Amino acid sequence: MPRKIIIDTDPGVDDTMAIFFALCSPELEVIGLTTIFGNVHTELATRNALRLLEIAGRTDIPVAHGADNALTGPFEGPVPFVHGSDGQGDIFLPDPAGAPADISAAQFIVEQLRAHPGEITLVPVGPLTNIALALRLEPRITEWVDQVVLMGGNALAPGNASPAGEANIRNDPEAADLVFGADWSVTMVGLDVTHKVHMKPEDIAEYETHGNAMSDHIIRILPHYRNYFESSYPAQGIFVHDSSAIAYLLDPSLFETKRWAIRVGTQGLGRGKTWPAFGKHILPAWQNRPLVNVCVGVDGPRLVALEAERLRKA
Ligand code: RIB
Ligand code: CA
Repeated sequence: MPRKIIIDTDPGVDDTMAIFFALCSPELEVIGLTTIFGNVHTELATRNALRLLEIAGRTDIPVAHGADNALTGPFEGPVPFVHGSDGQGDIFLPDPAGAPADISAAQFIVEQLRAHPGEITLVPVGPLTNIALALRLEPRITEWVDQVVLMGGNALAPGNASPAGEANIRNDPEAADLVFGADWSVTMVGLDVTHKVHMKPEDIAEYETHGNAMSDHIIRILPHYRNYFESSYPAQGIFVHDSSAIAYLLDPSLFETKRWAIRVGTQGLGRGKTWPAFGKHILPAWQNRPLVNVCVGVDGPRLVALEAERLRKA
């Protein structure tokens, strides 16, 4: 039986690749997309999620609109210099034909977990606001979920949204601290590994040979995103953030992990930093917290090849 997943997403160029990667993997059954602010405002994230499912021919999959602001304050704003003002590399797609479901993201998550106890993995690849709201709405989702595998955080690596914090966590640190502190199984696929998953120019070029709608769309939206990376980092090509969370679901052996309690910085310059506790003397702030499965190593080339293999067969 395929593993049921809900992807909580702020599409976003790398979100797009992750969603297509999941849709092309028979081991996974995407039962819904829930949308959140981050790369774009939630309203645009919802429109993009609908567009992507239309491109993939999967309008059977529901989209549920999520929170428009963080738990404790307003959304600080999108990042058009990374994902384009349309969240799709400034290719400006036509409006989607479909509409989101008449249920909020948090309610959708709670209802699906209640209906399928033990069967669903939550895959957040944006800020964790919807997940935190779902926890507040129904704390028993920790019993009903199979596990949470999220793209976000930086345990030992520097941040990207600031020197301290990774974008998904920094966009709602209070929500992230709740998610890492709840009594469920969480795997953190953060910058410690995604900055080691490098899609080189030749890897990108290979997508031009696939000849399918999803890979063709990826080729269209990548140039803007790639320009950001090549002007911000020394390497040519891009880092693979959200698809790395999907790859973890497909083949955890790609990763080396550690079990650490995680707290999230919410104040000052350190806002958005995920702080792991290790060693023998665990300070009170990290005591009585569940251990998070933190990815610290990855076989980047094998991950990039896995994603290409799935999209090639789309
Ligand atoms: O830091 C990378 C993360 O922030 C990715 O999920 C990207 O899509 C943005 O949401
Ligand atoms: Ca994302």
